Amino acid sequence: RSDHAPLTVEDWRRRARRRLPRMVWEYVENGADDESALRGNRQAFAAWSLRQRALAGIAEVDLTAKIAGEELSLPVVLAPTGLIGAVHGQGDLAAARAAERAGTRLVLSTGSSYSIEEVAQATSADHWFQLYPWGDRELTGGLLARARRSGYTALFVTVDVPVVGNRLGERRHGMGIPPVLTPGRMLSAGLRPAWSARYLRHRRVALRNLVEPGQSARMLETAQRQAVNLRPDLAWSDLAWMRDQWAGPMFVKGILDAEDAVRAAEIGADGVVVSNHGGRQLGSAPATLDALREVVAAVGDRLEVLMDGGVRCGTDVVKALALGANGVLVGRPYVYGLAGAGEAGVADVLAIFEAELRRTLHLMGVRAATDLGREHLLPAR
Ligand code: FNR
Repeated sequence: RSDHAPLTVEDWRRRARRRLPRMVWEYVENGADDESALRGNRQAFAAWSLRQRALAGIAEVDLTAKIAGEELSLPVVLAPTGLIGAVHGQGDLAAARAAERAGTRLVLSTGSSYSIEEVAQATSADHWFQLYPWGDRELTGGLLARARRSGYTALFVTVDVPVVGNRLGERRHGMGIPPVLTPGRMLSAGLRPAWSARYLRHRRVALRNLVEPGQSARMLETAQRQAVNLRPDLAWSDLAWMRDQWAGPMFVKGILDAEDAVRAAEIGADGVVVSNHGGRQLGSAPATLDALREVVAAVGDRLEVLMDGGVRCGTDVVKALALGANGVLVGRPYVYGLAGAGEAGVADVLAIFEAELRRTLHLMGVRAATDLGREHLLPAR
């Protein structure tokens, strides 16, 4: 069986698909409805070619980026992903450590498998926290207070989940809290002994943040049952309240519309993440690379603009930056690495992005990632 060392994110994807039980794989990979947003994210990158300027005399390429007030070694941040303890027992800890080693950051999901405090203790960089405004203001305020106390600096409020998208893959294969087990699903896990052994060893429960440190497992179970306590009526006034609760940089994640981006600026956000949640929410949402142009035109002079969705290689990052993003987030790419090799896998995925980005800029004749602009793109035929 060919299992050569992965050279690309796609290689890590294939490895993850082999290593994960079907239920978990579907959870990672699926999009909503007919998955047109998921496909559209990828297709949008193919619409552009990169301009090559020869003999630029560049000795060394500079990839550093300033995002959320931090100097990062590369403009690629790990997106928040919930329940990744099901992918690998080290879950969020592995992701946070690998991000730190690469000079970047993990945005820790509210739905993480290790708590806000556990991730802070396992790392030395200040990480960033993603908030799902679940439940009431008391619960939300409690999460923010814990994140602040644990040294998280930037806050990402995810606003594209008033209700959960229609993700057919995970529904068909029983992924949920708790998962629905059938003999076939158990067999799919049993056929992957490395995953099963790790899972039994760590048994990282989901949604660890919903109980305060020290509270009992029973509380956790109750909290998990209530976790789907989404806020379908979430509105801009709630976001303004959150702005008051958080002193550091605040990003609104899940913006696809220029007018919404302007409202984010008006409530005092520091930035937006142009995102369709990796195609997992509104099934026919626009491709994020397309939405990025509209958002940059509206607020690029006032807000930091990040984007995510379908970023799979260095050239994708270059295209997003050239269209005005300050940086990108990647979700599934690092989850593939995590599935394949834990922390080392995530580190390798980041190293692949770094090397591809460096090589691409050098070949284009661009000295620094921050020099990228619209002039570096040409429409692809
Ligand atoms: C996500 N995403 C997500 N977003 C968020 O704000 N909070 C969360 O808990 C999660 N959970 C989650 C789990 C999994 C398995 C995936 C794949 C995604 C969305 C994520 O932050 C990001 O927007 C997308 O993953 C970006 O698209 P790509 O890079 O996966 O194509």
